[in-house]
Amino acid sequence: MPLALRSDSPVQAAAGALSIVPLDGPLGAEVFGLDLANPLPQQAFAAIHRAHLDHHVLVFRDLDITPAQQIAFSRRFGPLQIHVLHQFHLPGHPEILIVSNIKENGQPIGLGDAGHYWHSDLSYKEIPSLGSMLYAQELPEEGGDTLFANMHLAWDTLPEPLKRRVQGLQAEHSYLAKYEALRARSPWRPKLSEKQLAEVVPAVHPVVRTHPESGRKALFVSEHFTTRIVGLPEDESQALLQELYAHSVKPEHLYRHQWRPGDMVFWDNRSVMHLATGCPDHMRRKLHRTTIEGDKPY
Ligand code: SIN
Repeated sequence: MPLALRSDSPVQAAAGALSIVPLDGPLGAEVFGLDLANPLPQQAFAAIHRAHLDHHVLVFRDLDITPAQQIAFSRRFGPLQIHVLHQFHLPGHPEILIVSNIKENGQPIGLGDAGHYWHSDLSYKEIPSLGSMLYAQELPEEGGDTLFANMHLAWDTLPEPLKRRVQGLQAEHSYLAKYEALRARSPWRPKLSEKQLAEVVPAVHPVVRTHPESGRKALFVSEHFTTRIVGLPEDESQALLQELYAHSVKPEHLYRHQWRPGDMVFWDNRSVMHLATGCPDHMRRKLHRTTIEGDKPY
C-alpha cells in the first residue's frame, strides 16, 4: 500500500513547527517537525497525544535522536515496560529492546523474529502495553515493512451475529504460545530461565476491549499470543479465533509501513495489531523499541 497524503486537507493539526498529516487509509498519520533536542512544549505534546488517539499509528519523519531521547519521549506517555528477553536490551538502556536480524561474532544482537505473527505488544501481561515506539537504525534495501490492522474497524465491521457471540467472552494470552515453534527454527529465542518464565505467566483479557481514552471498542485477540477463549471447547475456541483473525486482517483494515531512514513509528497497542513482514536474510535490519505500559483491559 503506497504512502499517500490527503489532498483536500494536507495539514490536520499544527503545534509550533509540528505538522500532522493523516494518511489516506484506515489508520495512520505522518508527523513532521518533532524536535526532541529541546523540551517538548505542552501544546505539541497534546497535539501528538490527540493524533495518536485519532489515528492509532503515528509516523514521525526525519528524526535523529539518541536512545535517551527516545526513552524520555516515550515516558511522557507512561511508565516503560522492560522486555523479558534481557539478552536483547540495548546495553545501558534496558528500556530499549533491539529488534534486529543482525549477528555479530555469530551471535544475534537483537530479536530477529519480533512480529513474525500478528500481535498487540505484551498482551500476555496482566497490564499490557499502551503503545510502542519503534525507531529505525538500519534498514534493508528490500522488504522489512510493518503492517498494522485497525482493531476498532475490525470490531465495527464484524457481522452482528458474531458481535453477539463474542461480546462478554474472555481469552487467555500467553508469551509462550508460539515460543517453542519460533525457537525451533530461529536463533533469536534463547531458552528462558526460571526467572524469565515467572515474568510471563498467562493473562486473561476480554475479547472485545474498550479503549480507556477514546471509549471505542476493539477486538483484542491475536494469532501470536491468544491461546484460547475461556470456557469454550478447544475446537470451538480455535474455530472462533481463526474467524476473528481472518476478519481483523482484511486488506481494508490495514496500513503497510514502508520504512524510511529517520522514521520512528508510535502505535497504539489498544487499537491495532501489527506484523513484521520480514526481509531477505542477508540484508541488515535494526530498530530500537520502547514499550509504554497501559491499563488493565476492560
Ligand atoms: C515488533 O513486533 O515489535 C517488531 C515489528 C517490526 O520489526 O517491524
